[in-house]
Amino acid sequence: MQYENPKLVLETSEIEEGSITWKSPSNIAIVKYWGKYSDQLPQNPSLSITLETSFTQTTLHYAPRKQAGQGVSVELYFEGTRNEAFEQRVRKYFEKILPIFPFLRQLDLKIETANSFPHSSGIASSASAMSALALCCCTLEDEFFHTLDDDEAFDRKASYVARLGSGSACRSIYPYLALWGETGEVPGSSNLYAIPMAEQAHPVYQTFHDDILIIRSDEKKVSSSAGHGLMHNHPFAEARFQYARKNLHQLLGALRTGDLETFGKIAEAEALMLHALMMSAPSPYVLLAPHTITAMERVQAFRAETGHPVYFSLDAGPNLHVLYPESVIHEVRPFIDEQLAPLCEDGLYLQDWAGEGPEQL
Ligand code: PMV
Repeated sequence: MQYENPKLVLETSEIEEGSITWKSPSNIAIVKYWGKYSDQLPQNPSLSITLETSFTQTTLHYAPRKQAGQGVSVELYFEGTRNEAFEQRVRKYFEKILPIFPFLRQLDLKIETANSFPHSSGIASSASAMSALALCCCTLEDEFFHTLDDDEAFDRKASYVARLGSGSACRSIYPYLALWGETGEVPGSSNLYAIPMAEQAHPVYQTFHDDILIIRSDEKKVSSSAGHGLMHNHPFAEARFQYARKNLHQLLGALRTGDLETFGKIAEAEALMLHALMMSAPSPYVLLAPHTITAMERVQAFRAETGHPVYFSLDAGPNLHVLYPESVIHEVRPFIDEQLAPLCEDGLYLQDWAGEGPEQL
């Protein structure tokens, strides 16, 4: 594992207690990551918009470990209540990254974490949750060892570590736009971590809105990790991975020039293909809901009638993401309120937009 460092061990006498807090956002992929190999490496490059208002805030409290032990000593409180299922997941994650942060074994850790989005909104929280944890670990390393004072090196390591928790989390580290996965088209791109893309894109993408329609908030039937697994024996896997590269090529052009029509065409094609892959998997399943389809049709009809650049995307769930630039907000918001909000559970949609990335508090 790159970044393994057996030297990051503390002199027991130098450990003081303290805490670190990071707020880290979710992201929406325009070209999707679906299918992985080896240890969380993507079968194709993906590119996402970093969100602003959908985030996880995580505080990592640390103190010298009272009772020596093999694994990691950690307690986790989610929105104020001890959550053993999440705690178990985080313990496994921290034990996995012990070769990178061996000092974690020397501490008693307590995590307090909460999401900005409603508990049952059905919003994927792994990207924001795992990136917040990875950022806390990197800050802790830097506080103890002063090894990550270079911002670029810090971000790259945080992205690498976040990836080991949840693939899509590695993209949440960067403002506005991030690319994860090796492609000859972007120098410096890597399967191991994401890289920032905002500087290579037209400024219109920094004004993008993503209003998330909460069509259904129940837990999904098939998890993303099971979905990735189904890509191993998927009849269309190879075609998908090639197609994603073709879409990325076109998207990169549209990002440079500000060509919103091409951007939107790819966003919608990728969203539909993601769900088509689920529906054509060796054990097929459907995560779309009837209202998801109606909402997609209404977005396309509104676009056809008005000519406004409004498009949709989807994550691995039924909630539709409505994407549009700031310049049309006064036309689009009334449309969402009148025609899309009634399709949402309790009329709920979340107003989000391209954001500046994580923040240490
Ligand atoms: O990061 P994971 O393993 O939860 O996978 C997420 C995959 C999608 O959200 C469906 C697409 C993506 O690229 O974010």
